[in-house]
Amino acid sequence: MAFSSTLNHEELTFPEGFCWGAATAAYQIEGGWDADGKGPNVWDTFTHQGGDRVFRNQTADVACGSYARWEEDLKCIKQLGLTHYRFSLSWSRLLPDGTTGFINQKGIDYYNKMIDDLLANGVIPMVTLYHFDLPQHLEDQGGWKTGAIVEVFDAYAQFCFGTFGDRVKLWITINEPNVLAFFAYEKGKFPPGIPNPGTGAYQTAHNMIKAHAKAWHSYDSLFRKKQNGQVSLAIFSPWVAPADPASVTDQEAAKRAMALALDLFAKPIFIDGDYPAVLKSQVAAMSKKQGFLSSRLPEFTEEEKRMIKGSADFFAVQYYTTRLAKHHENSEGELNCLKDINVEIFPDPSWQVSQQGSWIHVVPWGIRELLKYIKDTYNNPVIYITENGFPQGDPAPLDDTQRWEYFRQMIQELYKAIHLDEVNLQGYYVWSLLDNFEWTDGYSFRFGLYYVDFDNPALPRFPYKSAMEYAKVIQNNGIKG
Ligand code: NOJ
Repeated sequence: MAFSSTLNHEELTFPEGFCWGAATAAYQIEGGWDADGKGPNVWDTFTHQGGDRVFRNQTADVACGSYARWEEDLKCIKQLGLTHYRFSLSWSRLLPDGTTGFINQKGIDYYNKMIDDLLANGVIPMVTLYHFDLPQHLEDQGGWKTGAIVEVFDAYAQFCFGTFGDRVKLWITINEPNVLAFFAYEKGKFPPGIPNPGTGAYQTAHNMIKAHAKAWHSYDSLFRKKQNGQVSLAIFSPWVAPADPASVTDQEAAKRAMALALDLFAKPIFIDGDYPAVLKSQVAAMSKKQGFLSSRLPEFTEEEKRMIKGSADFFAVQYYTTRLAKHHENSEGELNCLKDINVEIFPDPSWQVSQQGSWIHVVPWGIRELLKYIKDTYNNPVIYITENGFPQGDPAPLDDTQRWEYFRQMIQELYKAIHLDEVNLQGYYVWSLLDNFEWTDGYSFRFGLYYVDFDNPALPRFPYKSAMEYAKVIQNNGIKG
């Protein structure tokens, strides 16, 4: 084993108070898509339109039925012994048209009960305001493409802080804004389903960064004193390593890939209110070559930079896999964000795939590299891994010994990052508590610690072996033996 000889290999005890969590998201588990006054969101519309954009045209109209089965989810949470549970609020369940003009009390009641039950059972909630499910009404008005969304998001955030913040102390404003920007607005794979390569992702990322920062400031000035919580956003990031570690060009390509994957969002928020210099120069040069009058990467005003800089209380990152990078000149001037930085990324063919057809290659050491990178680049912040997981196919065996092995290796890497690299990692959330609706992959990938029998109308939950093993880790605050 590649452990330092100074570590005790048998017992990996984590720092006292380490948070052991699991995560879910409203659209992926709740179902009840039009129950009790909930308004439609973009995923309701997208899945109802069909068109083979989602595996077998599946929808999350029912999903895990968590809207009507919170007690069952709570049972799983208690059985695991989670210290933390991360879930998201369905924006259009609370505010059916996305604005505070009309508030749905039934939605408030549902989340109040969840929060109260969690706290009564000693589980700390981490609440995501927005996890991909934009209210349809807001999308109809231009959604993330328009600057107007910044104020609307802030009003929603203030409403949530005011309604739940007496009990919720850990907030995520936006889940994976980078995935959303690229998948929804560059590639058109997520709703609204309209590709806009080279422009859509930057334009929407720009507004998401401003919306996050504005909400953080609202918390800071209006709620923090009384509520004493913490607010951040959760950024998806692979670790990107040079294809040939000895090649300087590959090293530079990997750096540019990290700039696009992580730093595009993290640098403005955690460092100086502005995008990475390498992205600014690359996109400007490519835009010029393509005949644009100005760079496709928008600019923040000085006032916006001041607002964005420092607008997070901790670093939340979601790691699933690693990629290799090498230089690849975009000589045709193709419109595409990845091509803006002249990089090609790919997995090492020797890496094991978590599940046939999945994009997740099993690279536990990548998480340690990513954590070190965050520590070094972002002044040693408090870090939470707000998602990490491995899918199984469908059907999946309850005995998922192999998958637990992946989790175990991952937890070992976290241990090394804390003890050998002195990374200030304070928590880890498994994605996901339950098998659920995996966006365009529908129910074909199962990420849960609990198996959900989607063919049975009662939607029963059964623990995988991984759930039992994770429960032991939580109980021991680490790995024993
Ligand atoms: C990250 C997303 O936040 C979550 O919604 C998704 O299910 C997982 N990745 C797995 O792809």
